Amino acid sequence: MVTEMTAESAPGELTIHRGLDGVVVDSTRISKVMPEINSLVYFGYPVQELAEHCCFEEVAWLLWHGELPGAQQLVAFQAEGRSRRHLSPALLEVIRRAPRTAHPMDVLRTAVSFLGMEDPDPDTQNAAVNLDRSISLMAKIPIMLAAFYRLRQGKEIIPPRSDLGFAQNFFHLCLGQVPSPEVVRAFEVSLILYAEHGFNASTFTSRVVVSTLSDIYSGVTAAIGSLKGPLHGGANEEVMRMLLEVGRPEHARDWMLEALRQKRKIMGFGHRVYKHGDSRCPTMEKHTRRMGELTGQMKWMEIADILKATMLQEKNIHPNLDFYSGPAYYLMGIDIDVFTPIFVMARITGWTAHIIEQMAANRLIRPLSHYTGPGERRVQPLAQRT
Ligand code: COA
Repeated sequence: MVTEMTAESAPGELTIHRGLDGVVVDSTRISKVMPEINSLVYFGYPVQELAEHCCFEEVAWLLWHGELPGAQQLVAFQAEGRSRRHLSPALLEVIRRAPRTAHPMDVLRTAVSFLGMEDPDPDTQNAAVNLDRSISLMAKIPIMLAAFYRLRQGKEIIPPRSDLGFAQNFFHLCLGQVPSPEVVRAFEVSLILYAEHGFNASTFTSRVVVSTLSDIYSGVTAAIGSLKGPLHGGANEEVMRMLLEVGRPEHARDWMLEALRQKRKIMGFGHRVYKHGDSRCPTMEKHTRRMGELTGQMKWMEIADILKATMLQEKNIHPNLDFYSGPAYYLMGIDIDVFTPIFVMARITGWTAHIIEQMAANRLIRPLSHYTGPGERRVQPLAQRT
């Protein structure tokens, strides 16, 4: 007998957990999602407190070392990261040759894969070497992304500045200027909230890849492919497209009712783990609202508020982080198709922390499947087949 997605099954029965729903596949020290109390911790620290008190580099250090850095450690770590903000001429050429119409996620996927081929010692896979590679990936991914951002607009690539923080430098590279501290802070908060989230699809993808003893670049390349989908990271782009489609607050309620009537999946709502609200939303919502005030464009949050109220009333489904990060990035003047790549800039820290953790106590990830195809049959020689 086959049971689908039930918590228990009698001896001899086969239980299928479609989408691995509710399955605990391994343990991790890195983060804990607690849907019952609407909380998320990185190595024990609530993400809201990290977002309030830390810069993104501190959180990256935490995810890689398990502790927050001391002042001197942070300065040295920041200097190290800043010294790696460059790409080889060959990698820049790969980005230059990317079709201007390519999605920046595809460009990042290829650029990270190319970076792996440039590694002079790809077969060494110990934790120290992989941490060193992780620092480089964190430093170089924004450079890759910004290079494509500029090139596809027919503009010159802007050289990085080593006197700027991680978030500031990204604005400088893409837009040629650093916005006000409040905007930079909102961006940095989004990176901290995006940095890590348990065994989500892309993190799990990266762990599956390296569980075969493949390399860290392959794990990250695959994770980028996984994050791109609209059910995962791609949702932050789709949220903004939805807000643009709705257009005006007075259309929002009817738009949502009609979309639900058509059984559309509404982007930025719902979550596999959180069923009573996403722990990261209140922090991001506050900053997105502030972006609206600063730019004098409150209408996106007015639309969002009505969509949220209607969705809660009709389906009792809560918004997730993407619902607020999408409009925040839009209000910062960033192109919509760069929203998910920004998620990569943040989640590279969580992915690589998990890759290192997986490799430290590896067991090949290889689940079973329940076969539902035809029963065993004989192969007819080609001449006898009709
Ligand atoms: N819009 C409309 N209905 C939704 C929904 C959404 N965003 N999210 C969940 N639902 C509905 C499902 O259709 C299902 O309804 P049914 O029981 O009538 O079939 C019910 O809620 C349960 O959802 P389920 O499909 O079991 O949730 P899941 O855990 O498989 O899916 C997501 C989680 C994230 C994939 C899903 O909520 C979704 O597609 N959200 C939109 C994309 C998104 O924002 N992704 C970012 C996640 S951080």
